[in-house]
Amino acid sequence: MSETFANVKRFIEEIAAASPKSKDELEQFRIRFLGTKNVIKPLFGEIKNVPNEQKKEYGQLVNEAKEAAERKFAELQEALEAADSGDNDTDALDFTRPGEPLELGSRHPIATTLNRIVSIFQRMGFTVAEGPDIEDDWHNFTAMNTPEDHPARDMQDTFYLQGSTEMLLRTHTSPVQARVMMAQQPPIRIIAPGRVYRNETISARSHAQFHQVEGLYVDEGVSFADMKQTLMYFAQEMFGTPKIRLRPSFFPFTEPSAEMDVWIGMDNEKNHRLSKGTGWLEILGCGMVDPQVLENCGIDPTKYSGFAFGMGIERQAMRLYDIHDIRLFFENDVRFLRQFRAVV
Ligand code: DAH
Repeated sequence: MSETFANVKRFIEEIAAASPKSKDELEQFRIRFLGTKNVIKPLFGEIKNVPNEQKKEYGQLVNEAKEAAERKFAELQEALEAADSGDNDTDALDFTRPGEPLELGSRHPIATTLNRIVSIFQRMGFTVAEGPDIEDDWHNFTAMNTPEDHPARDMQDTFYLQGSTEMLLRTHTSPVQARVMMAQQPPIRIIAPGRVYRNETISARSHAQFHQVEGLYVDEGVSFADMKQTLMYFAQEMFGTPKIRLRPSFFPFTEPSAEMDVWIGMDNEKNHRLSKGTGWLEILGCGMVDPQVLENCGIDPTKYSGFAFGMGIERQAMRLYDIHDIRLFFENDVRFLRQFRAVV
């Protein structure tokens, strides 16, 4: 009788050990243990030969064999299907496969240019200040001495938030000047890098969003000569030449105002084109902070004076990396960005 029991146990072990590697092998397993002529079926018939006191135990064992076969089949079928669809990691793991190289990212050329400018001014003792991209009319225009009827306030140029005449996307980084002066008394020595927005037609040379760096220095006895020296040092560090030119200009928030050009020469085609045949590249606007602006922001203009400047980043980056279309900066095309991988 023990032989009948041993028979069943042998099948249970065989089921546990089965590991078909293909659909065909799995089908063999199914035919053997679950098919119409499976090997377990006749075992039920054997029960009549089993002594009465062992009938219950035997019946349970045969049932167990049948259930084990069903469970195993379902498991194996699932595993094979998963391997088929490629998401069975354990089976698909190939330790001999060569490693995939880690792709290193690159800094955006605008970030690299910004960082360079910031670090030059940090070396002169300027610290970084920030303001919000969504500004109110007061900081962006009124505090900066830009009157109500100034064309810069025109809807044509400024993005106002929908339905608002008060909130807008800042058109320059100059409102950060107002924010800093409202919060702190001189000495003030800050630069404010950030994004600005103008309602302009997008082309190779102009965009509706770009970056600026603002600078502000307010203290007792700050003069135009201080400004000139500071900007000369900047030109030297950024462009490798201290040769600058200040042209009289106008900004509502500075008096007197100037525009600064840097000498890049015309000794090659690129510089000739960039400077439109003059050798000079226009870099920034600057001037002595208008006493009215100091007063608007709670600083005593009879005691303090200051200078300010503001420059666009894109044009400098375009010059630095010989980029001909400003739109490339904002498209995030990896083929463009990858070219700056080596630039730190
Ligand atoms: N805010 C000016 C602009 O967007 C740039 C500028 C000019 C900033 C002169 C200044 C300045 O601080 O003094 O065109």
